[in-house]
Amino acid sequence: MNLTDRVVVVTGGAGGIGAALVRRFVAEGAAAVVVADLAADAARAVAEAVGPVAHGVGLDVTDEEQVRALVADTERRYGRIDLFCANAGVATGGGIEVDDAGWDRAWRVNVLAHVYAARAVLPAMLARGGGHLLMTCSAAGVLTAVGDAPYTATKHAAVGFAEWLAITYRDRGVKVSALCPQGVDTPMLADGLVAGHLGAKVIAASGAVLTPEQVADAVIAGLAEERFLILPHPEVADYARRRAEDPDGWQAGLRKLVRRLTT
Ligand SMILES: NC(=O)c1ccc[n+]([C@@H]2O[C@H](COP(=O)([O-])OP(=O)(O)OC[C@H]3O[C@@H](n4cnc5c(N)ncnc54)[C@H](O)[C@@H]3O)[C@@H](O)[C@H]2O)c1
Repeated sequence: MNLTDRVVVVTGGAGGIGAALVRRFVAEGAAAVVVADLAADAARAVAEAVGPVAHGVGLDVTDEEQVRALVADTERRYGRIDLFCANAGVATGGGIEVDDAGWDRAWRVNVLAHVYAARAVLPAMLARGGGHLLMTCSAAGVLTAVGDAPYTATKHAAVGFAEWLAITYRDRGVKVSALCPQGVDTPMLADGLVAGHLGAKVIAASGAVLTPEQVADAVIAGLAEERFLILPHPEVADYARRRAEDPDGWQAGLRKLVRRLTT
């Protein structure tokens, strides 16, 4: 897929990776970009900054009715959705002590929201025999987010769900991609570093922290090649291979890094 004349929705578009995707899609010639976020005013500000092709709306991705209404409204206004980017996500920075409300929020934003997005967009995409669903997961979904148990578990679930969708619908014309970055310089990582979260420290010590614009570059390339797994940090593929071949050795390496950062 290239972005020229495409109709796109980006959730979590008010900042970080989502806002960079919005700016890049508009620069690539998208016909319309809907910027959706819980932070409605910030979503509108991102849209206004890129011009009339984009518009911003408030959306809670964990509310299926709201997701359905946004998709229906976008299809009514523009006739179709070519690319739906389910990008909103939340981290907790905690382990087993995170309370049930924290686990529930991670599950609802990082996993169930993708189910709601798929339910809402697939009928029209399947009827047209085309469309692309891009799910922002994380390298945590193929590896581990040290220091964040709910994030690790829910991002693994998100990658699993994305793979299931890709296998189930690709032969009917709908493509699915899982975007799995490692460290990216956004409020999510910056807030974690300020709070002194171990996970954020591990990410910062584990390799390059990319800009959201570099992630957008990787997305454009991945969409052009219709790739399932989009890895802005290519080394994540090597880590995943090492983890599969030698899980104990891979875990020992991570434990050593944690010891270095905590002693
Ligand atoms: N920053 C990183 O290092 C990193 C690495 C890998 C993956 N990711 C993933 O990238 C995605 C974007 O995160 P980011 O780094 O740009 O962080 P971010 O915190 O800047 O952006 C996340 C956005 O999601 C929105 N959001 C949260 N809950 C929502 C809800 N219920 N409904 C609608 N919007 C909601 C927030 O308002 C925010 O604008 C997330 O899925 C995140 O897990 C980030």
